[in-house]
Amino acid sequence: MHLVITGPTSGIGAEKVKALAPKFTKIFLLVRDMEKARTLVNKLNSQDKADKFILVYCDLADLASVKKAAAEIAKHTDSVDVLINNAGGIFPEKTTTKDQLELTFSANHLGHYLLTLQLMPLLTHNSGARIINVSSEAHKAASVDLTDLQFEKGYSSFKAYANAKLFNILFTKSLAEKFGDQHIEAYALHPGVVNTNFGQQSKGFFKLLLSLFKPFMISPKKGAETGIFLASVNKVPGKNGDYFKKSKVSSASKKAESKKLRDQIWDRSEKLVKAITENRA
Ligand SMILES: NC(=O)c1ccc[n+]([C@@H]2O[C@H](COP(=O)([O-])OP(=O)(O)OC[C@H]3O[C@@H](n4cnc5c(N)ncnc54)[C@H](OP(=O)(O)O)[C@@H]3O)[C@@H](O)[C@H]2O)c1
Repeated sequence: MHLVITGPTSGIGAEKVKALAPKFTKIFLLVRDMEKARTLVNKLNSQDKADKFILVYCDLADLASVKKAAAEIAKHTDSVDVLINNAGGIFPEKTTTKDQLELTFSANHLGHYLLTLQLMPLLTHNSGARIINVSSEAHKAASVDLTDLQFEKGYSSFKAYANAKLFNILFTKSLAEKFGDQHIEAYALHPGVVNTNFGQQSKGFFKLLLSLFKPFMISPKKGAETGIFLASVNKVPGKNGDYFKKSKVSSASKKAESKKLRDQIWDRSEKLVKAITENRA
């Protein structure tokens, strides 16, 4: 059994790796900080570390790096059983990536969109793979302007984050719809409000909100539970494309159920990836 996970160097990603290590023979850790990844692996109790963990450089906000990471994985294996698209973040200032995209959109959504599609031949290889997308209840605050996906008209860190987390759910449902007949299962989840590095550079109202919530936040270990459950349970109790909270199917927003919106976001993502990767080739 082979696992690929993004964002394993911190928070709930690190806890997922710790818990899932005994269940997988190979674990690809997609990271942008190799030193942090080495520290994580050194702390693990796994006996067969040297063979099991493969560190792959991947900056999700750089599509060329995402493509390279997928190609690197394909050098080591022809099959992936579970892909956990876990990495993400909220960014206080508007930042434009190398690909000329807004960072929240790119790191939370488009990088994972490309990674998943690049890994699709490996995911479909064994007739039964699972893709787990870490979203958030924040998706319920999304308000999408399809004419301004890159926030050229004005930036709000929370709006950009809420929209990206909505796109994670729309993407999950599109994957179930488009690849379900090839035995691909896709699920999205909210991990809870978790005490991690998430939002640490925030400013203003969001920073105040985080500090007020801090005493009530759950631990990263607890926050990892739904992801661990979805990655390891034999049969997921729900239907393909569902959204989970506390290891149970939960209702996502009305927008997250919109077929029209998910097709629009898929189409826009496909066109952006094509334009950027062809431009850079
Ligand atoms: N914490 C919460 O309350 C909460 C609630 C709902 C949803 N979530 C979601 O849970 C997921 C994990 O977050 P967390 O709470 O564990 O936060 P975290 O401790 O900040 O971990 C985020 C992880 O994502 C990685 N990452 C960020 N940007 C990246 C990029 N451009 N390329 C590659 N990796 C990148 C980070 O790498 P570095 O170590 O290199 O920074 C880190 O490993 C995120 O998708 C977040 O949106 C969190």
